[in-house]
Amino acid sequence: MAKGERAMAYIQWSRRFELGVPFIDSDHKVLVGLLNRMNDAARVDGDLTDIGGILSALVDYTRYHFAREERAQESAGYPDMDDHREQHARLAIEARRLFEAYRRDPGGIEVGDILDFLSDWLMDHILLHDMAIKPYLLANLEAVSAAEGVDYAALMAEGDTRKQPDWTRLAVLAVEDSRPFAHVLQAILNVIGIHDVAVVSDAAEGLRLAEGQRFDLILADWRMQGMDGLDFVHTARARGITAPVVMLTGYVDESLEAAREGFQISEWLQKPVTSAELMACIARHVAA
Ligand SMILES: [Fe+2]
Ligand SMILES: [Fe+2]
Repeated sequence: MAKGERAMAYIQWSRRFELGVPFIDSDHKVLVGLLNRMNDAARVDGDLTDIGGILSALVDYTRYHFAREERAQESAGYPDMDDHREQHARLAIEARRLFEAYRRDPGGIEVGDILDFLSDWLMDHILLHDMAIKPYLLANLEAVSAAEGVDYAALMAEGDTRKQPDWTRLAVLAVEDSRPFAHVLQAILNVIGIHDVAVVSDAAEGLRLAEGQRFDLILADWRMQGMDGLDFVHTARARGITAPVVMLTGYVDESLEAAREGFQISEWLQKPVTSAELMACIARHVAA
């Protein structure tokens, strides 16, 4: 994947994008934020997998946002619901196709093209199609509460029959030195329902936090500037920190397997991870 010169202009949020329906405006801001973080990741020399992680979050959050919008339209009896739903389905398929293409061959897709496609689409869709639903949803408390009933974690775990943990009771520490990806990780953990999330960009800071507070799980990036993920976990164990550690990594080699066999880490997850994979992994290592 080409970077640097491929980045595009940031999307500036403006009032003309606002419907005045709080859940829709806040979702749209999250989506714009994700596109801008993807742009950040494309500008810095970091791990290429960060862009994949942000793309994955965009695919998942878009699915959630569409489900919320459609639930509200249904409740409000919006007459053009079928057309709107079809628009959503087309974008969801295209976004997933981009993500799958990235997964198969991260070097084979142009991040600039993805950003252009997604930002043009999002802006057009908001201004042309979402604006049309505004009169049906403004002051329609029933439709808004129907939309707010969509649960992100339940939607992502659809089809997974295993018992889900009580996400709201978990405390998670993430140690991730890519700021754009750290920002996205925080947003995804929060929308899953985990409110007690600490994200730090530096392993030493992660150790300080984990010594002072109990975490149910620690997510650690493997490749970091300064102390890397494996040094982090070795130091953590030496200091008596016993929380399960899941290593996030772009590459897998035998040192990760050795760390798992030695019970230093519970598991590794290969980036880019989807919300469903992240949730299933957390669920494996925390008490239900
Ligand atoms: Fe929409
Ligand atoms: Fe929308």
